Parts: sequence; C-alpha cells; structure tokens
Amino acid sequence: MSLSRRSLLSAFAAAGALAAAGPALATEPQTAWSPGLDNAPVDGFNEAAMRLVHGRAPRALEGTHFRNGPGWFRYADSATGHWFDGDGFVQRFAVADGRATHAGRFVDTPKRRMEQREQRIIAPGFGTRGADDAPVQAPDDINAANTSVMIVGDELWALWEGGSPTRMDPRTLATSGIRPLRADLAGMPFTAHPKVEPNGTIWNLGIYGQRAIIWRLSADGTVEDAQILNLPSRSYIHDWAVTERHLIIPLQPWIHERMTAPMVDGYVWRDDQPFRVMVLDKNDYANRRIYELPAMFFFHTGDAWEEADGTIRFDLCVTPNAQFVSQDARSMISRDVGQTPSAELVMATLRPNGQAELQRSTVFGEFPQTDRRRQGLSRDLVVVANDRAVSTLEMMNWRTGEASRFNFGADQMVQEHLFVPKPGRGGEHESWLIGATLNARENATELHVFDAAAVSDGPVATWRSPYRAPLGFHSTWRGA
Ligand SMILES: [Fe+2]
Repeated sequence: MSLSRRSLLSAFAAAGALAAAGPALATEPQTAWSPGLDNAPVDGFNEAAMRLVHGRAPRALEGTHFRNGPGWFRYADSATGHWFDGDGFVQRFAVADGRATHAGRFVDTPKRRMEQREQRIIAPGFGTRGADDAPVQAPDDINAANTSVMIVGDELWALWEGGSPTRMDPRTLATSGIRPLRADLAGMPFTAHPKVEPNGTIWNLGIYGQRAIIWRLSADGTVEDAQILNLPSRSYIHDWAVTERHLIIPLQPWIHERMTAPMVDGYVWRDDQPFRVMVLDKNDYANRRIYELPAMFFFHTGDAWEEADGTIRFDLCVTPNAQFVSQDARSMISRDVGQTPSAELVMATLRPNGQAELQRSTVFGEFPQTDRRRQGLSRDLVVVANDRAVSTLEMMNWRTGEASRFNFGADQMVQEHLFVPKPGRGGEHESWLIGATLNARENATELHVFDAAAVSDGPVATWRSPYRAPLGFHSTWRGA
C-alpha cells in the first residue's frame, strides 16, 4: 500500500521535474468554441435571478443543480495546454417556485492560489507542461478540482481525475479544502465518476500507473473498503460502470507508454489492440473476466446492468480514436477546434459465454446520463448532448430502438442534462431533464427543463442568466 502511494507521488514529482515553461499565448481567430473557454470572472458570479425566456417552470421542480468544469485558462503570458487543465469553476442553479438563480465560484485549490498569486501557469497537468519551478510534492498540489461534483452528506465535493475530492459548502460554494477520505490513503486518486447504488453506497476508482484503487464508501462518505488492483494495461480510464454484482472497467487501447510532460504526450493510440473490458465480482476482485471489443475510444459510459442469465450491458459514447483528447482539446485553448467527429452512442453486450458485441445507434453526442435511481439496474433510457456539428439533446430508448431529439439551433453549446425525478413518480420516463447551454448569440448561460418523455417538444422552461459561464463537464442535482 505505502509502496503504491510512494510510486504515485514519485511519478508526479518526476512530471514536475521534467516540466518546462508553459506555452506562450498566440492570437488566433475566434471560433464557435471560444466563448466557452474564456476565463470566468476571478471572483465568480454572485447569486442573481435568471430570467424566464421560454415556457413555464413546473411548480413541483425544486432543488439545486450544480455544475463543475474548467473555468480559468490564461494569464497574460501563459496558458494551460489543454481544456482539461483549467481551474475548477462550480456553478449553482437554484430552482424553486418557478424561479431560478445562478451563482458561480472557483474551487479554492492550492494550485489556483499559487497561480493567482504569481499570475502565471505553474502546475503541470494532464496536457500542461507547467513551470520548471513547480513545487509538486503530491497529486493534490496540482489538483484542479474541475471535472465533476457530488453531494455527500452536507458537503459538495468537487472531483478531479488524479487526486482527492475538494470539499465545498453547497449553499455558499466556499471551499473548505481537502481532507483525506482516510488518513492512510491520503493523496490516493478518487476519480470524477463515482457510482452511487440505490442504497446510497458509493463506488469509485482511482487510477495510477497500471494500478487501480477501488473505493467503497457509505452514503455519508465513510470509507468502508479500499483495495489495490493490478490492471492488465496502462489504458486511459476516465469512466467505468457497475451492476448489482459486478464492477466493469473498460480498458481502451489509448495506453500510457512513457513518463513525460505533459502526461498526455505519454499516451499512444494502439488500434491494433482490442478494447478490453474487465469485469470483476464485487465480492471477490480476484474473480474476473476479460472481454474484447474492436478498438475505439471513449470517455463516458451511460450505466450498466445485468440480466438473469448473466448477460451484462452498458452503453458508452465512442469515437474511432483518441484525436479529441490528444489533439483537439489542446488546440481548443488557442481557439482552433479541429474536425473531431461527434461520439456515437453504442451498447456493449457481454455474454456469459465470453463473447462481446457492440450495437450502434446513430445517436451522436456525449455526457450520457440515465435515471440515477436505476444505477446498476435495467433501464430503457439514456440522454446525450451534442455540441459539435449540431446542437442537440437526444434521448435514446434502447428497448424500442427509437430516439427523440431536440435541436437548439446554431450558437448554442449543449451541456450535460440530468434526469430529475418528478415527485412521487418512479419510472424513468416520469422525469424531467435539467441542464445548461451556453447561448453564444445571447452571450449568456441558459438553464433548460425538459419532460423526459417528450424531448422533441423542446424545453418546457428556459431561464437565461445575466452571466455567461465557461463550458462545464459534469453536474449533479439535489432535490429540495
Ligand atoms: Fe467525465
């Protein structure tokens, strides 16, 4: 255990030692992405009323939508090298009585404090080389806290891929800092894609090198179990899935083959290798199976379930290769988008006889979301957001094979939309969807509510903020 942690820390220290100065800023033409990658105001947004610009908000919809994403990319003479390395900016949309408010704050991390103090990019990141003098002792020294959010007990946790959760106050968005989940596991990674079972149990991964830590926490955040596993490959693992009985860890052929700075340059696309899926028994991690699918790249799964005969299904959004993460998400910072196609939603089926197959959907988008009451359980629906060639929100029904789509039109960047249960209703169709867009024409962030059973009808309500926030990644909802 301690050896594992030491090797992790030395890997980060090595990355720091190898680091060179950050890239100089260039002046490039604006593209459609550019409003989404501007720095947010240094002090964030004070809570302000949003204006209802369409429809009527359901009176029974009451709660708070939190979003996280990179929100600070540039100082006068230096910039992050990758979209994924901006400082975490958490937004809070509070909905009650048919009204909505919008607020935002940066997560007050050691990384951000250091860089704001010196007014330059210092920390090495996933795609950022960092400065020669970056003081990196541990992963959390460079924790950008920029990827997702979850509510645990009375706290809001800002999550990152390679370090600890950062705790915030869900009412004020004030940061209270990092406290280890367990003292002897300080600094161990806790990724941005925890899975919460219907009984509240939280499962999560942390990946370092060719090892994973598998976390199991109670609903209040207490660590119930943490075990270290050796993985078959050094694949890039951003998301995973759980069923009632199994943990599903996809091992794609984008593989970290050398330690260098920035880290992204150490990954190699190996399309001669399969997309492996490792399935572990939740009660005995030594009991595992490996399935193989054709080479493809993914960031996100929808969710997984298993059937009575042991067949496991999980949906995911895939592209033919890793071009977006290795190239486009870097050039976005200098305003050049590239031509990466939208990801396609596909369904992977893992058969008890060891065979695996893939079903395509012709539904394109990212940030797949499902009814979280059904985490790990059989379901029909998954919704994806598309902000590439078109600006759509699209709901796929795997049972019927039918998709329902709403097109927001040009100038709208569509972000993750969540299922929010209607009060007293249990079915996944009996939900609202809530999520944000960046309306570039109106220079404003918007919040939308859909009826999950009628996505093609468009939003039932849309509020417009007086603020324009950068594009975010992941979000959560806390009902009133
Ligand atoms: Fe993600």
